[in-house]
Amino acid sequence: MWHADTMPRTHRSLPATLGRGLAAGALAGAAGLGYAAGVEVRWFALRREELPILPAGSRPLRVLHISDVHMTPTQRRKQAWLRSLAALEPDLVVSTGDHLAHRQAVPTVLDALDGLLDAPGVFVLGSNDYYAPTLRNPVRYLLPDDGRRNIHAPQLPWGSLLDGLTGRGWINLDNTRGALTIGGLRFAFAGVDDPHLGYDDLSAVAGPADPDADVRVAVSHAPYQRVLDAFARDGYDAIFAGHTHGGQLRLPGYGALVTNCDLDTRRASGLHRHPACSPPGAPGSTWLHVSAGMGASPYAPVRFCCRPEATLLTLTPRAAA
Ligand SMILES: [Fe+2]
Repeated sequence: MWHADTMPRTHRSLPATLGRGLAAGALAGAAGLGYAAGVEVRWFALRREELPILPAGSRPLRVLHISDVHMTPTQRRKQAWLRSLAALEPDLVVSTGDHLAHRQAVPTVLDALDGLLDAPGVFVLGSNDYYAPTLRNPVRYLLPDDGRRNIHAPQLPWGSLLDGLTGRGWINLDNTRGALTIGGLRFAFAGVDDPHLGYDDLSAVAGPADPDADVRVAVSHAPYQRVLDAFARDGYDAIFAGHTHGGQLRLPGYGALVTNCDLDTRRASGLHRHPACSPPGAPGSTWLHVSAGMGASPYAPVRFCCRPEATLLTLTPRAAA
């Protein structure tokens, strides 16, 4: 039998060490949650990328990609930041859906977008433009997509949002094509309504991208593989998408745990290619830009190692073949 004064140090301190470890773990968890909910979810970042998809000799063009704003009328800091992006004076704005998170948010979103709506723009809607957010088990945000959709919640006034955006000249690309001339270059667009809800109608936009266009861009809210495959096959130079929130809660040194769709977690956000390993110029290869988005559901207002963002992409000439 060990006496306290003769007990080996490892035995004597084990319960205390465990207790201290648990307490430290709980403290770190609480601190992390406090940081994710109190700091990072409002710590907006502008990410910059270069996207070489213009014809040789073209001057660079700047595209602002915004997504997953998830706006409520009281989110003043987010409104101010979104409003400030107009100072970038982009040549084109691409918005990949989930603008709303509240029944009264349409005027708020349109007001915050006011300066950007002076620029040419294209957009699609996301599931959170159609349906009000609801309280769900937060663990579900960390699990793979279970196929259940939030379609029994009250509808949001997405028609007013459409009217507000198209009334200022932005092109609605939900299951349709569009075209714009920007900086003297002809842009051909195609988009789908939200694949996460199964609203995408690929047959409506199927077929080769306009061969007479200088630049071909496809847009989707959720980057499901069937949509990316179709647009890559049809020859689009780049696909813009959102929905993933970049994983929303990322592990340092590991990255995103989920994408909330069938896209792999390595491409949860940022500039990649589709198919993932295809080199530039390979048949069926396209650029894929996934925005980590600006917001989060009001019922899961946390982001960790995944700052809310918008992206300014500078379009440059393609590399010589
Ligand atoms: Fe979203």
